Amino acid sequence: MSKICVIGTGYVGLVTGTCFADLGNEVVCLDIDETRIERLKNGIMPIYEPGLQQLVSQNVKAGRLTFVTNYEKALKDAEFAFIAVGTPSGVDGEADLQYVRSVAESIADQVEDKIFVVNKSTVPVGTGDWVADIIRKRRAGKPLEFSVISNPEFLREGSAINDFMYPDRVVLGSTDRVAASKVAQLYLTLRCPIMITDLRTAEMIKYASNAFLATRISFINEIANICEELGADVRDVALGMGYDKRIGSAFLDAGLGWGGSCFPKDVKALAHMAAIHGTHPQLLQAVMDINRNQRRRVIYKLRKALGSLNEAVIGILGLSFKPNTDDIREAPALELIHLLQNEGAIIKGYDPQAMENAAQVLKRVQLCENPYQVAEGADALVLATEWNEFKQVDFDRIYTSMKKPIIMDGRNLWDGEKLRSMGFAYYGMGRGGFNNGNSD
Ligand code: UGA
Repeated sequence: MSKICVIGTGYVGLVTGTCFADLGNEVVCLDIDETRIERLKNGIMPIYEPGLQQLVSQNVKAGRLTFVTNYEKALKDAEFAFIAVGTPSGVDGEADLQYVRSVAESIADQVEDKIFVVNKSTVPVGTGDWVADIIRKRRAGKPLEFSVISNPEFLREGSAINDFMYPDRVVLGSTDRVAASKVAQLYLTLRCPIMITDLRTAEMIKYASNAFLATRISFINEIANICEELGADVRDVALGMGYDKRIGSAFLDAGLGWGGSCFPKDVKALAHMAAIHGTHPQLLQAVMDINRNQRRRVIYKLRKALGSLNEAVIGILGLSFKPNTDDIREAPALELIHLLQNEGAIIKGYDPQAMENAAQVLKRVQLCENPYQVAEGADALVLATEWNEFKQVDFDRIYTSMKKPIIMDGRNLWDGEKLRSMGFAYYGMGRGGFNNGNSD
C-alpha cells in the first residue's frame, strides 16, 4: 500500500486516483475547485464515465479515497504526487502550462522533505525538466529530496477504467532509475509491459501515440473520400486492410473525424513544437486539414441534396465527441452545427448524455428529448455520434415524421441499403454507390 496524492480531478486525475485506490493504495484527490470537491464528496461525478461513480463510492466507503481542496492536507505523508491538471491549447496551439506550474510551486511549498513527482498531464517535451527546475528554485535553501517522472496516460474517455486496469503498456520516463522503479511498483499488479525511458522520450511517446492514432483516422477518411468518388466501400476497405497484422483494424473507422479534448489539442501542440524547433511537420498539418475537411464534406453533401441550407431544418443525432461520454469538447457535431448555422440552417439536436453540456454552449439549437423529436419536420437528419441508442431507432416512425427523408450517416452506423429501400435518401461516409447514386 502506498500513499498517493493526485492533483486535478478531471477525467485523468479522477480515474487514476480512483483506480489506484481500488488497487489498495491510500489516495487523496485534490482539486482547487471547491464546488467540484464538495460534489465529489457527495458522490456526484463531474463527468459521465461508465463505472466511475460506483468505483468512487466503493473506495470512499472503504476509506482508501478522499477528496480535498487543501494542498497541505493532500501532500501530508504522500510518497507520490501525481500531476493530472489540464494543459489547454494556447493561441498558437502551444500547450498552456499555467496549471502545471502552479502545481509544481505548491508541491515545492508544501512537501516536507521527500516526494516522487509523477506527471500524467500531457505536456510538451521538456516540461518534466522545467517542473524539476521550478521546484528546485522555489526550494532554494530548504532541501527537498525529489524526482520528476513522466507517466503519460493512455485512457480513452468512455472506457477509462478498463484502460487503466488493463493497459497495453505503462511508460515511465526519468533519469532517476530508482524513482522510475518506485513508480513501476504501483503498476506491478496490472501485469503489463512497463517501459522505462528518459523523461523527454516518455513525454514524446504520448504525443506520438495520439498523433499516430489521429493520422490513422485521417488516412482512412482520405481513403473514404476517394472510395466515395470511385464507387468503393471504405468499411470493407478498412476491414480488408485490418486483417494484415502489420496494419491492424483499430482506429480505421471513417466518418466525421476525430474530436475530443486530446487529439485536436495534442496534434496541434506537437506540430507547434516541431515548427518552433525548425522542422516542418507536413504530415501533421495534413492530418489536421483532412480532419477539418470531413465536416465540410457533410455540409457540401447536404447543400447538394437540399439545394440551399438557408432555413432548412437539420436534425443532429449525437452531440458528444464520441459515444459513452458527455464531453462535447471539439466535437464534430459542434463544428457541423456552427457551419450549418452560418448558412442559415435551423438546428435541432439530441444526445443521450451530453445535453447539459450542450445546453451551455449551443444557444440557438432546439434541444430535443429523443431522436424522434429531432426528426419531426426535419429536412435532413445527420448522425454525428454513433451511440448504441441510435443503432435500433424506429425508421418507419422517423420516415413519416421528417419533412424530407434525407439521412447523412456521419459514422456509417446504419444499413444504407435497407434505408434506401424504405425510401430514404441515404448518404454514408466513403460508401461509394450509396453516396452518389441516391441524390444524383
Ligand atoms: C484518446 C486516446 O485514444 C487515448 O489513448 C489517450 O489517452 C487520450 O486521447 C488522451 O490523450 O487523453 P479519447 O480522446 O478519449 O482518447 O478518444 P478516442 O477513443 O481516441 O477517440 C478520439 C476521436 O477519434 C473521437 O472523436 C472518435 O470518434 C474518433 N475516431 C476514433 C474516429 O473517427 N475513428 C476511429 O476509428 C476511432
